[in-house]
Amino acid sequence: MKQQILKINEVKQLQKNSDFNTMGIVIKVSTRRDRNDNIFWDLTISDQTGDLDGKAWGTASWWNHQGGDRFMIDPDNCGFRLEGLTVGLVGRVADFRDQLQYNFNEIYIVDQNKYPPIDFKRRSPINQDFLENTFKNLIAEISSEPIKNFLNAVFFKHGLWEKYKIWPAAFALHHAYTGGLLEHSVSVAIGARDIAKHYEEFKIPVDVDLIVAGALLHDIGKIEAYEADPVPTVQTQGNVIEHVALGYGMFVKFAALENLDKNLELALGHIILSHHGRREYGAPVLPETPEAFIVSSADDVDFKLSYWKMQMEASGYQNDVTEYLPMIERRLWRGISAK
Ligand SMILES: [Fe+2]
Ligand SMILES: [Fe+2]
Repeated sequence: MKQQILKINEVKQLQKNSDFNTMGIVIKVSTRRDRNDNIFWDLTISDQTGDLDGKAWGTASWWNHQGGDRFMIDPDNCGFRLEGLTVGLVGRVADFRDQLQYNFNEIYIVDQNKYPPIDFKRRSPINQDFLENTFKNLIAEISSEPIKNFLNAVFFKHGLWEKYKIWPAAFALHHAYTGGLLEHSVSVAIGARDIAKHYEEFKIPVDVDLIVAGALLHDIGKIEAYEADPVPTVQTQGNVIEHVALGYGMFVKFAALENLDKNLELALGHIILSHHGRREYGAPVLPETPEAFIVSSADDVDFKLSYWKMQMEASGYQNDVTEYLPMIERRLWRGISAK
């Protein structure tokens, strides 16, 4: 009997010794050798429900089903890159040192026209039209003409929008999927704008327009830091220069092209450079204005919330408290309300 093709989150719910069939795109494949010098592969595949790390041992068979033929291949010498291709997997859940381990016994590269990788790509759970409209409304609501004109020029005249609207916000960690940068930026802008409006009422002088502009621009460097295709990956310049500095460089170039007022350039540049909040988190300067405090705080909350959600979803909200997570320097608790 042919087994049903499971989604990755369904595979993750299987008990040990279960067999499974699944499909996804190859995110990462690396050739390794065990203690006895036998070859095996670490393989990460992904679909819209999540990522699955597994192993293909030396006994696994690799097949190419593209172009109507079916023949066995050597994954290390097949003449094309496996990353980004849609594959089918036949596997079994094993138990290794009391942890579940996913062994892939058959890996077959399917017909990419019939099963396009885009159908398996993770994307923002927030509706794309809603995000795009909200982004445009955030700009339309800005009352300062110089700021509004500058944003319109950056995104729509200089063409940043085409990438910005689909880019991931990370290659791992948070919003690491198509549309992640737009989702994160819009979320930070709305959060920061609402905090700013509150403080305006509480008699703290804050410039809401600057905050919205700073929030929409704060992570533009990610467009140069990451590559989106076939899956989010970090580029060399993303590693050695990083998105904060890359983004500032892009911003300075746009400011010159648009003759942006020097004071506005200083204020927005300060928000971009300080948004990580602490030097050890990659901020070359610390936030020093109400606008920079607010954007940096809204960015931090947005990151922490999406990271918490990602961790909870990874365990299907089954885990009460996670293990220590070095990335966020703490464990995370499901809390009393989340289900
Ligand atoms: Fe950032
Ligand atoms: Fe950010």
